[in-house]
Order: sequence, then structure tokens, then C-alpha cells
Amino acid sequence: MNETGSGRLPGDLTAGELVARIIRVDHAGEYGARRIYQGQLAVLGRGPKAELLRQMKQQEQQHLDRFSELVIRRRVRPTALLPLWHVAGFALGAATAALGEKAAMACTVAVEEAIDEHYAGQAAELGEDEAELRATVEKFRAEELEHRDIGLANGAEEAPGYRLLYNIIKTGCRLAIAASERV
Ligand SMILES: [Fe+2]
Ligand SMILES: [Fe+2]
Repeated sequence: MNETGSGRLPGDLTAGELVARIIRVDHAGEYGARRIYQGQLAVLGRGPKAELLRQMKQQEQQHLDRFSELVIRRRVRPTALLPLWHVAGFALGAATAALGEKAAMACTVAVEEAIDEHYAGQAAELGEDEAELRATVEKFRAEELEHRDIGLANGAEEAPGYRLLYNIIKTGCRLAIAASERV
């Protein structure tokens, strides 16, 4: 049976600490994701992509609700950075939306690809002893990839400066993930 963290526990983390870190960072990420879509809707809420954005925001809300429940049930301390993600998530969403619908979709592609990598890594770290959490991570990962595909299908790659925008946002997401695991 493969156990959580078997063979690849980073540093001296126990399996319990690893699980707490996973729940903390995923809660933070879903919180930030919802804020990004709220920021985009503040700008594009009356536009032709509003319904798509609302659907994705709704799904992020479900993801957030699930991790909020796990924070309580598993007695995990949420990240101290939530107030920062509250502001930064909304700002990222609003700023990309202000650049246009395609830039907003480019933001979704970059964010969801960063989260996909992140969730894939977690699913590999979680063992049979955490099958329920692993199933949650895998389900959400599939839904994030659907969001990525929505972005691609709605002109993300046609956004002006797509590569630059993509790289900046994806790097920012990776930094946010690393910080939320630790703080
Ligand atoms: Fe999500
Ligand atoms: Fe998402």
C-alpha cells in the first residue's frame, strides 16, 4: 500500500504536516481563484463572456467551500496570506479583464495550468490512507483543466502579448503557491 508522502516527504515533514500543508495551500488557491473571477466579472460582467466567467466562478466557489470544510474538519491553520490573495486575486482578474476578454482568458489559461501542475504533484504525494483527499484533488484538477480549455476556446492565445502575460501570471501563481504552503 502506498502511504501519503512515502519516499518523498520534503524535509522533515510528517504525513500529517504534509496533509495540513496541502489543505492550507489548496484552500488559499481556490480562494484566490474565486477572487480572480470576481475581479474579471467586475469589468466584464455585462459582456458576452460574462456567463462563462460566472460558471467558472461558481465552480471555484464549490472548490473553496470544500477546502473551507476541510480546514475546519482537519483542524488546519489557514494561510496568513489570505488578505493578500483577497486583494491580489481581484486585482489580477480586474487588470487582465481591463486588457480585454482575450487577456482575461489568457489569465485563466496561465492560472489553471499552474494549478494543474500543482494538483498533479499533490495527487502523487497522497496515498491510499488519504484516498478521499486525493479524489478531491483529482476531481478539482480535472475541472481546472476544463477552465483552461474554456480559456483556449475563447481566444486566450490571441491576446496581445500572450506569451509574456502567460509567463508572468504562471510564475506569479507558482510563487503564491510556494508562499501559501509555508506561511
Ligand atoms: Fe478551483
Ligand atoms: Fe479553476
